Amino acid sequence: MAGNWKMYKTPADTHAFFEKFKPLVADSDHCEIVICPPFPNLPAAVQEAHDQRIRIGAQNLYWGKEGAVTGEVSGFMIRAIGCTHVIVAHSERRQYFNETEADVMRKTVAALENHLTPIVCVGERLDERESNRTEAVLIEQFQGGISGLAPDHFARIVIAYEPVWAIGTGKVATPQMASEAHAVIRAQARAKFGSALADSVRILYGGSVKPDNVKSLMSEMEIDGVLVGGASLDPLSFASIVNY
Ligand code: PGA
Repeated sequence: MAGNWKMYKTPADTHAFFEKFKPLVADSDHCEIVICPPFPNLPAAVQEAHDQRIRIGAQNLYWGKEGAVTGEVSGFMIRAIGCTHVIVAHSERRQYFNETEADVMRKTVAALENHLTPIVCVGERLDERESNRTEAVLIEQFQGGISGLAPDHFARIVIAYEPVWAIGTGKVATPQMASEAHAVIRAQARAKFGSALADSVRILYGGSVKPDNVKSLMSEMEIDGVLVGGASLDPLSFASIVNY
């Protein structure tokens, strides 16, 4: 159960969040919990989570280790401060920062080489769904950004299916729609990496997940977890999602 805080909260807000959140998930050992705050809050989050089962991730990374790349942060640095995860290719990165499938691949490999678990995002836009291109888009994204990974690298990634039209809009995909999309992704994984890896890769659903819809999503066999934006900002709502 992963939370993506996007560009919200200060370090002080981060401490306040964890103070409320930690007791609410103290017994939640049925799942892995990951929270991805903005870069300046990562040290506060790592400090808060150090004796907990909660893992901390960044929302983006650069593929080099270090260098003259103003404004970027490397996987090496993210790992060095104690993070374990990183989101790659969120649709907002694809849309506003023109991230391509080649970037997705480079970032995913850089994350893995730095012992970070990449949460690699895929998903179709509204116009693509409306023109019945959902399956084609997911296949393109898988082929371009994921299928070139070595099998031992693929074994360590998490995939997030996030239909762009469902993100921050309140329009959640129905459990059946999400499940169908996950099945497309898993079929690609099976064709490329074989059944064992395809069955074990975790595929999260993201897009307007809330405390009142998480249960029906999680009841689908194909849905292994959720990636939550807006509803992860509030400790009570994210805790009730974790404890669905
Ligand atoms: P949302 O965002 O839950 O606010 O729709 C999900 C995401 O962008 O990861």
